[in-house]
Amino acid sequence: MGGEDEGEYEHTPTARTLEARAVSAWFGDHKVLDRVSLEMPAGRVTALIGPSGCGKSTFLRILNRMHELVPSASLAGEVLLDGDDVYASGRRLTEVRARIGMVFQKPNPFPAMSIYDNVTSGLKLTGVRKSRDEQDEIVEYSLTRAGLWTEVRDRLKQPGGALSGGQQQRLCIARSLAVAPEVLLMDEPCSALDPTSTNRIEETIKELADEVTIVIVTHNMQQAARISDRCAFFLARAGSPGRIVEYGDTEAMFNAPQDQATYDYVNGRFG
Ligand SMILES: Nc1ncnc2c1ncn2[C@@H]1O[C@H](COP(=O)(O)OP(=O)(O)OP(=O)(O)O)[C@@H](O)[C@H]1O
Ligand SMILES: [Mg+2]
Repeated sequence: MGGEDEGEYEHTPTARTLEARAVSAWFGDHKVLDRVSLEMPAGRVTALIGPSGCGKSTFLRILNRMHELVPSASLAGEVLLDGDDVYASGRRLTEVRARIGMVFQKPNPFPAMSIYDNVTSGLKLTGVRKSRDEQDEIVEYSLTRAGLWTEVRDRLKQPGGALSGGQQQRLCIARSLAVAPEVLLMDEPCSALDPTSTNRIEETIKELADEVTIVIVTHNMQQAARISDRCAFFLARAGSPGRIVEYGDTEAMFNAPQDQATYDYVNGRFG
């Protein structure tokens, strides 16, 4: 790296395949997921669908090691990021969370912190020092990718909490992107938003997919059909733990599902 290149923010597209192998999960002795295996291919959008309580959020939280923060929680199985075991002993949690970002249902920016500082807040945790110029470039890049730049470029010093709900959610997406994640997990990211904001986020997701592997939980079947390449249908039958009933190309899942339960669910018969 020559000194003259410094300040050129090189964002390397690094989408990676994430793979869950036989993942089971418990809260205390309540088993909520049973041997879930799923490949979430690099650079694709994978949608997780299924009725309330079938373990979609739990599965998502296992993928970036947030599940273990719940005191009663335990798990079995493996999660591999580009072949690397996410749960390997000695692997740093901060590294896992930087490589596998998460966006939640309710936008959660730091409300009193400026828009600019919200975007850079994750960089400090990764321990990599950036010059002011580099940070400026990362902020512009991340906000642009999140579809928010033109709306906020003139007010980066204003607090994140002053934005609308949809803008706050795009700010949270920008905050995740700033650390150049390989995977972005999204748990019902549009369910608290109006249709216009939802459209914006959906466009953003489609544009991001070439550089970040996306895994999104949604209850909105139209949304799953619009934005995902692959779809996994989770179901917890009569008191038993959640499992994947069917997985495949979104097109096939919606138009020619193999399982009657998938057919009923995607056609709005239950859940
Ligand atoms: N912190 C927790 N402590 C105990 N049980 C929990 C906890 N979080 C979730 N569960 C239980 O685990 C099961 C799966 O919950 P989870 O939130 O993963 O479902 P979900 O598919 O995301 O549902 P929804 O669509 O409503 O968000 C449920 O039975 C739920 O009650
Ligand atoms: Mg959930």
